[in-house]
Amino acid sequence: MKKRWVYGLAGVALAVLLTALWLCRWEKKDGPQKRTSMRIGVLLYRGDDTFISTLRMALEKQAKEYEQESGIKVTLDIMDAKSSQNTQNSQVERLISLGCDALCVNIVDRSAASIIIDKAMAAGMPVVFFNREPVEEDMNRWEKLYYVGTDAKESAVLQGEILVDAYRKNPRILDRNGDGIVKYVLLEGETSHQDSLIRTEWSIQTLKDGNVPLEKLTGGIANWERSQASALMEQWLEEYPDQIELVICNNDDMALGAIDAIEREGIVGGSIKLVGIDGIPAGQEALKAGKLFGTVESDKEQYAKLIFDIASSLAKGKDAKEKADLEKEKYYWCPQRVLTQQKY
Ligand code: GAL
Repeated sequence: MKKRWVYGLAGVALAVLLTALWLCRWEKKDGPQKRTSMRIGVLLYRGDDTFISTLRMALEKQAKEYEQESGIKVTLDIMDAKSSQNTQNSQVERLISLGCDALCVNIVDRSAASIIIDKAMAAGMPVVFFNREPVEEDMNRWEKLYYVGTDAKESAVLQGEILVDAYRKNPRILDRNGDGIVKYVLLEGETSHQDSLIRTEWSIQTLKDGNVPLEKLTGGIANWERSQASALMEQWLEEYPDQIELVICNNDDMALGAIDAIEREGIVGGSIKLVGIDGIPAGQEALKAGKLFGTVESDKEQYAKLIFDIASSLAKGKDAKEKADLEKEKYYWCPQRVLTQQKY
């Protein structure tokens, strides 16, 4: 009899202890429970990608602002996969074992999302993918999967329109030698990235729809990177001396690389027109300096806010759907705007 009492008391004490431990992360306020801390894992495909590092800074800022406003302590665990999907898969496991409440994933290989989704589903951990979009089939596997990105067709159409507008104002802005044809070269991002193909296709289509007479001299893949773009442009300037009038770039960093090559050749800044996408700080500087003709800026603050808002709502066990204007209940497209030299 006495023994049963002792067991009973020990059981109650254990239950009290477990409840107290659980309440360490939760504080009761006016009925509903309020979180006092949260841990969010952020996985980057490549930390030294210029656009991604700008986004990372905006995310850190969001987390700080949220912490100040809500009083909830936020730990952001940021990891760099350095372009390796295997590394990223291990990082996901590590973040799950660290007890993160949600993951924000900039996936290395967009066709390999199922491995990460399997791990997250098994751990019941919601995932906000961003910038590199998993295939729809994967996105539909679970209701706690979201995607935040920019609409690639919209970026490209806006980029094309910068050029169509300029050509309509004065064809000689693009057709430097006045032969009736705008001769261009094209710098493309990674082949496996959903944005590269769409951006290229719609930028050129917009120029054609706008009746800009075009001739492609050459093009190449520079994987979003300034140094790779610079090497390609150096080669093209040699192959097509005095012929290149326009450089269409899938992003700003590659446009900056092409500008590096143009400057090395001693060509007068601004004579060859270049357009990019992203509106990264260095791109905006080049625009102000008259080196970049135009770019399409994605609102980085808004981009990061959306990623963070969705992740933090999910971390608190709330519904993320009320947080944003979602397409198909899963996708959020960040706003974009045109920046041209005329606007400065
Ligand atoms: C694109 C962006 C590029 C690069 C890439 C990485 O959306 O324009 O600059 O950051 O994402 O996935």
